[in-house]
Parts: sequence; structure tokens; C-alpha cells
Amino acid sequence: MTTALILAAGMGTRMNSTLPKVLHPVGGKAMVHHVIDLALSMNMERVVVVASPYLDQEKVAAGRPIEIAIQAQPLGTGDAVRAGVDKLPHDDGDVLILSGDVPLIEFDTLAPLFNKRAECPNDPLVLAMRVDDPRQYGRLVTQDDRVNSIVEYKDASPEQRAITLCNAGVYLIPATVLRSLLPQLTAQNAAGELYLTDVIGLAKAQGLTPRYVETSHPETLNGINNRAELAQAEKTMQDRWRYRIMMSGVTLIDPVSVFFSHDTCIGKDTIIHPNVTFGAGVVIENGATIYPFCHLEKCVLKAGAKVGPFAHLRTGTIIGEEAVVGNFVEIKDTAIGKKAKVKHLSYLGNAQLGDRVNIGAGTITCNYDGFNKSPTHIGNDAFIGSNTSLVAPVHVNEGAIVAAGSVITDNVPEHSLGIARHHQTNKAGWAKKFRTTALELKSPK
Ligand code: UD1
Ligand code: MG
Repeated sequence: MTTALILAAGMGTRMNSTLPKVLHPVGGKAMVHHVIDLALSMNMERVVVVASPYLDQEKVAAGRPIEIAIQAQPLGTGDAVRAGVDKLPHDDGDVLILSGDVPLIEFDTLAPLFNKRAECPNDPLVLAMRVDDPRQYGRLVTQDDRVNSIVEYKDASPEQRAITLCNAGVYLIPATVLRSLLPQLTAQNAAGELYLTDVIGLAKAQGLTPRYVETSHPETLNGINNRAELAQAEKTMQDRWRYRIMMSGVTLIDPVSVFFSHDTCIGKDTIIHPNVTFGAGVVIENGATIYPFCHLEKCVLKAGAKVGPFAHLRTGTIIGEEAVVGNFVEIKDTAIGKKAKVKHLSYLGNAQLGDRVNIGAGTITCNYDGFNKSPTHIGNDAFIGSNTSLVAPVHVNEGAIVAAGSVITDNVPEHSLGIARHHQTNKAGWAKKFRTTALELKSPK
């Protein structure tokens, strides 16, 4: 019986931000949500997040089945765990302690901790990581697989700072041990905080045997404390997703210039050119092509669709099978049918396009009057000439043709021509006469 306790109540002062640290996104998802989702995926007895009273509880949970414990003041990680443990029923289960500022963590990172638990059922366990640049991590003072103490960087002697075996901030500790030791913590240390790490030294002093197990994935345990570390985590996360997406059968021509979101779904044999960014909620079916410099969010590309270069697909866009969207096209809340083409310089909003529709260059749906959005419907096989304004609400029905340069305010019936522009007048010889007069005026004899 294991409870996951996720510490997320720290001030995060090093972020220098009005947004609480654990809500800063990595790959489009708040750091703490990465950790919560991992805990939920492990079928824990319960998942408790320790939050500060200033954190918006709805934003922390965001619909996830978790419990929230409030730490009244950020007195340190030891006090945060105390707040979480107070919320648990009095049983003798294990507590898996995780930090909300370690978003790269995965199940494989934690597995050694659970394997070790099988060997030593009652000992406090610490997940350790060996790092070349240990920065401000707590250092583990060890003997074989036992941990005598964890020394925080600020309190460490030069010899202790030279230790590269560090505390990852992940622990598996029986609830009964936490209950008896947490009240004994003091803030007599360099930070003036109640350090959770001191529980280890206390446990050892009371005859328990705290042990560590080293992870082989230290890169997944980087704690984020400032914006530079946030950027590093984003890079690591993106590299992880790029690799996995390529292994699943997607071609990335220049992987480092493609940015994914935590929920991006891409089908096999899709080709993604350089400089493409995926916001949240994008689904791409098999065999699609995305050309350079596209931004996509909350949209679906059906099989074989082609998009870009320089396309902006916004919320609620569905691009049909083998449809083509070209350069400088912005689309929002619009579904485009099979084999339809919107190849140049268009804005489509709140529109439904049938199959094989052709949208000429510079076509705009005028869908917003400053108060309300209105729909545009374009039937199968309709052809919209270049530089057309479709003033919504309006229907261009199946097979209709709209003449270039039209401002369409009325419905166009099936298979008809809709033309809405002024008649052209040609004045014979006018241009020649104009030039002659203009030249004379410019350089009089
Ligand atoms: C902590 C560990 C350090 C370890 C490192 C790993 C302690 C004393 N130190 O240091 O040994 O190497 O993590 O990343 O534990 N928090 C609260 N309430 C508080 C203080 C913090 O909930 O009063 C939360 C924070 O929101 C954060 C987590 O605890 O998610 C860790 O706190 P942080 O201040 O980042 O600790 P570190 O200095 O990184
Ligand atoms: Mg930290």
C-alpha cells in the first residue's frame, strides 16, 4: 500500500516569477502535472499533493483525482511532508515522496526504488543519482548501500561538496517512520528550514537502516529551480519526444527544430520539415506532410494531408484526407473536406468546406462582426476565385463558382456562378494619352 506525496508548496523564489514554480510548463504541461500523471499511472493507493495556500487548487488538480494537503508556510521540505502525512489515514503503508519540480521523471527512474523495497521491506530508501555537476543538490554520505546522512549543499564541508552521489529528492519511507521522525526536525541549518533530508540522519541515529539505490537515469531527475534549468528541462523533454516519435515511424528532417507538446499524436510515415511547433491537442494521421515554419494547435490532420510552409492551424481545425493547405494560410474552427485545397494567403474561420473545394489565393471568411462569429458553408466541388471575401453567415453550395474579387454576401446556389464586383469599363487609348500628358507636364518644352 503506497501513497505518492508530491511536494509542491515551495516559494520557487529562484524562478523570479508571479506564476508558482510548479505551474511553469515543460512541453506545454505544468511541471507538477508531469509528476502527478506519473504517480497516477502507477496505481498508487492515493496521490497527495502538498500545496501552498496561495496555489490555486483547481489549477493544481486540473481535473485529476488527487488530494491536496496545505502547507501553511514554506518552512522546508520536512514540514511539507509533515503536512502531507497529516492527511493520511493512520496505517503503516509506504510513502513515495516526489518533488513537483522534477518533471522529467519516469517510471524507469523509480523502478530501482521498488526493487530495493522488495529486498528490504522496512528501511527508509533514498533514490540517489551520480552527477558530474552536482550543483546545489544534497550530498549522500554513505557506507555500502547504507546512507548515514544527507548533507545539504549550504551546510556541506568542502570534502562533502566533492561527493558526486546526490539526493534526487525521491524517497520511499514507511509512514510510521515519517510520523515518528518528522516532529524531531529542527531548523538549525544554513537555510533555517526543516529539511526532509535530516530524517535520514535521524533514522540512522535511532537504529534504523536508511539505504540508497542509484538510478541509471540521472538526467530524468534534474530539479528545476530557475529559468535556465527550466530551459534545460524543456530541451531534454523535447529530445526525448523527438526520439520516441522518430522511433514510432515519423520522419523529422531536422529534429532539433521541431517542438512537440506533451499530447502530440503523430501517425506513421508522416514527414515533418524543419521549424514546426506543435501546441497542445494536435492529432496527425498517417502519411501527412508538414512543410517548414508551421504552427499547429488543437487541430487534426487526416491521412495524407499536406500543410505549409508557413501555415497557422488554430483551435478546432480539421484538415481532410489528402487536402492541401499552403503558405500564409490561417485556419480556425474550420473543417476542410477530402482533397480540398487552400493553397495561398487565406483566412478561414468558422467554416465548413466540402470535398475537393478549391479556395483561391487571398480568400477571406469575414466571420466576425466585432460581437459574434458566423458560419460559412462551402459545398463539395465548389470553386472560390482569388481575393474573395465571404461575408458570413453565407452558403456557397455544391459545385458553385465564385468569381475572383467578389464580396459574397448572399448564398450562391448549386452549380451557379456567384459574381459580386463592379463591371469593368475599358477606355480605348486612355493610357497612352495619360502618359503623353504626364510626360509633358513633367518636362515642359
Ligand atoms: C531538495 C533536497 C536536496 C535534493 C533536491 C533534489 C531538501 C532539504 N533538499 O533541495 O537534498 O538534492 O531537492 O532536487 O529537501 N517544497 C515544499 N515546501 C517547502 C519547501 C519546498 O513543498 O517548504 C517543495 C518545492 O515546491 C519543491 C520541492 O519541495 O517542489 C523541493 O524543494 P526545493 O526548495 O526545490 O528543494 P531543493 O533546494 O531543490
Ligand atoms: Mg528543487
